[in-house]
Amino acid sequence: MSAPELVTVTVDGQELQVPKGQGMVETALAAGIEIPVFCYEPRLGPPVGACRMCLCEVEGLPKLQAACTLTAQDGLVLRTARTSEKAAEGQDAILEFILLNHPLDCPDCDKGGECPLQDLTFRFGPGSTRMHFPKRTFDKPIPISPLIALDRERCILCYRCTRFSENVAEDGQLVAVNRGAQSVIATFQDEPYRAHFSGNVLELCPVGALTSTTYRFRARPWEIQNVPTVCGLCPVGCNVWATTREGTVARILSRNHPDVHEGWLCDKGRFAHDHLRAPDRIRAPLLRVRRRGFEEVSEDAALDAAAEGLRAAEGSVVVAFSGAETVEQAGALARLAREALGSHSALLPDDWDPGLDAFRAPLAAIRDAEVCLVLGDDPVVERAPIVDLWLRSARRAGAEVVTLNPGGSVPVAPGTAAQVCAALREGGKRVPKELRATSESLKGAKRVALVWSQDDETGGRHVGALANELHESGGADVALYVLPRAPNGRGVAAAWHAVGEGGSDPIPEDEIGALVVSGDEAASDPRVRELAARARFVLTTAMYQSEVTAWSHVVLPGTGYLERDGTFVNLEGRPQRVRRAVAPPGPDELEWLSRLGERLGLDIAPWAAPGAPEQAELPPADEFAWSQPDPQVSAGKAAGPGLELVRFRPLFSGTAVERVPQLAFQRPAPEVELAWDDAQTRGIAAGETVAVSSNGTSRELRARLNRRLRTGVVRIADEHAEGFEDRVQVAKAGA
Ligand code: SF4
Ligand code: SF4
Ligand code: FES
Repeated sequence: MSAPELVTVTVDGQELQVPKGQGMVETALAAGIEIPVFCYEPRLGPPVGACRMCLCEVEGLPKLQAACTLTAQDGLVLRTARTSEKAAEGQDAILEFILLNHPLDCPDCDKGGECPLQDLTFRFGPGSTRMHFPKRTFDKPIPISPLIALDRERCILCYRCTRFSENVAEDGQLVAVNRGAQSVIATFQDEPYRAHFSGNVLELCPVGALTSTTYRFRARPWEIQNVPTVCGLCPVGCNVWATTREGTVARILSRNHPDVHEGWLCDKGRFAHDHLRAPDRIRAPLLRVRRRGFEEVSEDAALDAAAEGLRAAEGSVVVAFSGAETVEQAGALARLAREALGSHSALLPDDWDPGLDAFRAPLAAIRDAEVCLVLGDDPVVERAPIVDLWLRSARRAGAEVVTLNPGGSVPVAPGTAAQVCAALREGGKRVPKELRATSESLKGAKRVALVWSQDDETGGRHVGALANELHESGGADVALYVLPRAPNGRGVAAAWHAVGEGGSDPIPEDEIGALVVSGDEAASDPRVRELAARARFVLTTAMYQSEVTAWSHVVLPGTGYLERDGTFVNLEGRPQRVRRAVAPPGPDELEWLSRLGERLGLDIAPWAAPGAPEQAELPPADEFAWSQPDPQVSAGKAAGPGLELVRFRPLFSGTAVERVPQLAFQRPAPEVELAWDDAQTRGIAAGETVAVSSNGTSRELRARLNRRLRTGVVRIADEHAEGFEDRVQVAKAGA
């Protein structure tokens, strides 16, 4: 890339050489001069010049100009309020105008103490008011969703929230209605703001107009600490601040890592923290007592029983990982199983082929791609939400984004992502008609992003082979993202494989000596439930009761990611530091493992050594060394009667989300998504209640019609598809 052209600009008398076209707010800041802003936020797209807070004097122009709308041009001379009386007067007048109808309720406003309007008024505004008449009032607060309250009296109409909704999340749900002085912020058709990323507007709003219902009146700025950590609820690994007050996490704020998430968070990461305070949390060790269920016992009694149960099963212990363990925790558990108990069988939520690290790239590289290919049946937004925002950003930047799944831009048959990879790899005449256009686009592209979004027992090798082909034959720079199922699926898999040299043994098909279930996600996995039924002894670490804890002999209280120290490896392969923001009610998993290790003759440190830095760099891509044989592609499923069911695990599901009442409205509606043609042939209208049946299970669900969905396929969220087999019958209810 050629070096940018440099131009000379002058700000408050300082001559600066900067790239042509650079924003003047940033240009001034680089020279140590602050230009105050409200509406300006480069992540939201082009400036809109709505608030006029940034007024400055520009030599040669008669009127004050909004600096946020200016870019560096050779010879531009700018004077800010520091050196221009006219600009200072302008800013003062703007603040007076903004405050005209703004209630002076800073002492009880939730934004008070961390509010840009309050701060800028002190620094640049008038010292007293000239307004001695009643201010305009509105009904308040208006709950625009169970998570967000809107106070229209405080709104300064900067349009940051509506621009986020329109330009970033592209959900189009927040709008400005009415005109001129009557303009107000509202939701589209007054429907609740129900979207994966709605909480970002809370941080964008520069005043207390949008506040979080989960944080309102819970803390004041001088009572809180912000702990830097990483979200542990999906494999993106967004960097966050955990705001704590009196030993509890009161809110989660974003800590912008521009390469990972650009400062955006999904609503699960932002709002699910209150599950730590759930009343049904397991707080003491439990021991199964014959005929009397469980009994709370001392830590030592529980550990003694656990050690005894495991020792008796030496050589036949299976570990079921959840993928939410830290690397250190997973490593300790792997050592316990392999070194102390001589057992090498594990159920891992994800696996990873290390050869894929040749295509490692930061998530931000998606935006620079010419072609983005999304493969796999799982909706990206449900599996790794921020990746969906990067793909939208790539599309806005001009990339061709092709989604290859039953409801995608190329609606391929379910479960055929591996075949699609193989066909695109082979190219030429073997490419089926529906993939020809995609194949052509890939051929000419120099920067390609590949996203694999479904479980993959081969650790991503199908898409790895395609990446290799595009790189080797097409000379493209390929960025590859295999989306793990679990938040630290990559780190846990690596930790398991790093201990013991003999590889892993398959899980026995008959009786299991002992099963160690690590974490709630594993405890709620149907595969683990099945293993528990075959195990002579079950040791579970979990925060909440589940069907698997019911099968357990010993249950140790677990912790959440906000209560642990250690390392998570995100989907890019970036090791990031997780920090304990609040203390757990008892020992954490590493302490349990250390004390269990003592009883089994293994030395395990009870704490994690300080690992990754605060804002971790992505390790560089490995030397290009893809030497895998082409993976075998299995044949697709045979067709049968009824419609083919594609299930997906919604983002708003799982043990944490279930325990936060404010997130209940985000959970998937009891719906079945039907292809337009299938609905027509059955006489089903959108929104109608239909009967879905399979394998003797029948359930009434609301029909959602999707013109893009491939004919012959239905999609249902996991929690509404329980008991269904791979094919279902759909008919009008009562027919
Ligand atoms: S609600 Fe907040 S972010 Fe939205 S326009 Fe008003 S002040 Fe700006
Ligand atoms: S996208 Fe994932 S990592 Fe980021 S806030 Fe949401 S759940 Fe957490
Ligand atoms: S910050 Fe420049 S007009 Fe709002």
